[in-house]
Amino acid sequence: MCVALAAAPEVLVSQDVSKGLIRPGEVWLDDRGEMVQAHGGGIIRFGKTYYWFGEDRTPSNDPEKRYVGCYASEDLVHWRFRNQVLKLSDPELLGPNWVLERPKVYYNTWSKKFVLYAHLDDSHYKLARVMVATSDTVDGDYQYVKSFRPLDRESRDIGQFIDDDGSAYLVFESRPTRGFFIAKLSDDYMSVEKQMSLIDAPLEGGAIVHYKGLYYAMGSHLTGWRPNPNVYATATSLSGPWTEFQDVAPPETNTYGSQSTMMLKVQGTKGTTVVYMGDIWRPKELFDSRYLWMPLVIGDGRLTLPAPRDWMLDVKTGMGSVVK
Ligand code: GAL
Repeated sequence: MCVALAAAPEVLVSQDVSKGLIRPGEVWLDDRGEMVQAHGGGIIRFGKTYYWFGEDRTPSNDPEKRYVGCYASEDLVHWRFRNQVLKLSDPELLGPNWVLERPKVYYNTWSKKFVLYAHLDDSHYKLARVMVATSDTVDGDYQYVKSFRPLDRESRDIGQFIDDDGSAYLVFESRPTRGFFIAKLSDDYMSVEKQMSLIDAPLEGGAIVHYKGLYYAMGSHLTGWRPNPNVYATATSLSGPWTEFQDVAPPETNTYGSQSTMMLKVQGTKGTTVVYMGDIWRPKELFDSRYLWMPLVIGDGRLTLPAPRDWMLDVKTGMGSVVK
């Protein structure tokens, strides 16, 4: 039986995608029966297919390399493994335990290239750059191009935002300025061109959605892998002004143990669902980190992440419903 999204939370049961259920926090298996490795990830739609990219933390990966996993789905529930689209050796002499996190892929209609951004760092997180890799196909082998500091600023966690008009933006956390940058990519997406906003709040795990005339920006506080109360603000323009930040969930839940990575807007024939995509990190076993996806209650400048429970999403109608 399906009930309204605002209904009271229920206890979680085990994962079962065969029934089309999304079960927040449960193991998510791909078409091979293996755990989806797309942590700190992002999703783009290409044609009728959604592609989910993220950190691939498979334990048998070569420890000298860093990997990005790519999965495909038409319904956002059943995911087919496509490829480890990046299998990168240390590209900048970063040394042991170098870092590649939060990969995001954009499609550039002018160059017809897929452009992958990720946070690139040394083990002490001092490099604070983004890296760029490209591919001619969405799930091909991406080739490393370069790394740089966007707008010459330190950049650690990154987020991706594509507006309704197709404009592409990078969100990045910049520690010295204690701020959250929103910046426009260049026409070919190969560089970061223009600052839209510097929100005066030290937040990471940045995510943005444009919903019914308002921009909603979300992020977490800086507590490393530990979850904290994620917050959001709104603005009528990406250049602000932004409202004060407010909690997305009761603060004592620490965002139900998760950290934001993206808000995905699913528009259908009957309505629009905005999906909160969060990571439940397991720092000692990163491959076993889980995903918390829930439909947000959003509108009129308010945004709430409901307590996790099983739900279903119909990408054709755009409707989400929790399941009792
Ligand atoms: C988090 C960040 C993750 C990762 C982690 C390392 O704050 O969101 O992407 O960098 O710190 O401690």
